[in-house]
Amino acid sequence: MKHIFQKGNDQDKPTLLLLHGTGGTEQDLLPLAEKIDSDANVLSVRGNILENGMPRFFKRLAEGVFDEEDLIFRTKELNEFLNEAAEKYEFDRNNIIAIGYSNGANIASSLMFHYKDALRAAILHHPMVPRRGIDLPDLTGKHVFIAAGTNDPICPAQESEDLKSLLENAGARVVLHWESMGHQLTYNEVETAGKWYKSL
Ligand code: MLT
Repeated sequence: MKHIFQKGNDQDKPTLLLLHGTGGTEQDLLPLAEKIDSDANVLSVRGNILENGMPRFFKRLAEGVFDEEDLIFRTKELNEFLNEAAEKYEFDRNNIIAIGYSNGANIASSLMFHYKDALRAAILHHPMVPRRGIDLPDLTGKHVFIAAGTNDPICPAQESEDLKSLLENAGARVVLHWESMGHQLTYNEVETAGKWYKSL
């Protein structure tokens, strides 16, 4: 997968996996990684799908309606890419923390829904529930920070509540942070995610 890897100053720190929103690139979230932990490795990946020229991490049938078969395939592809990248760049495969926005947050939560040890933790900005009606792996010991907007037209508030419950029922510890905003990524939610990250 097309990506950027930046080696951090401190190899005891996690590797921050950056996953952009629809129409984004691997450049987009680099400032977030700098803000969250400037000493950590950064692996920023570009989604393999193009929707009218806009990169994404998996196909959708309509706004908010995911192509489940492609989601499963792309989630596996990303998980395998993480295995390969950990070997190639010599970072700890068991210490990856995802930071995703919108479509990137959705593939990050899909990694957790399908693979027990894909991620150690995740910061999910404006995610949806990636799939319903499946048993999640045991996520005991995993940590998730969800930032959601009370007026988000793409992710209704109930989606965020449902995602929190599904992850918690699988054993993860989840913090759900609300902004009185829409789908946009706000400075305040990034600041709050940064404080949460320091508490891990
Ligand atoms: C998705 O397709 O993943 C969500 O609808 C959010 C987005 O527009 O990226």
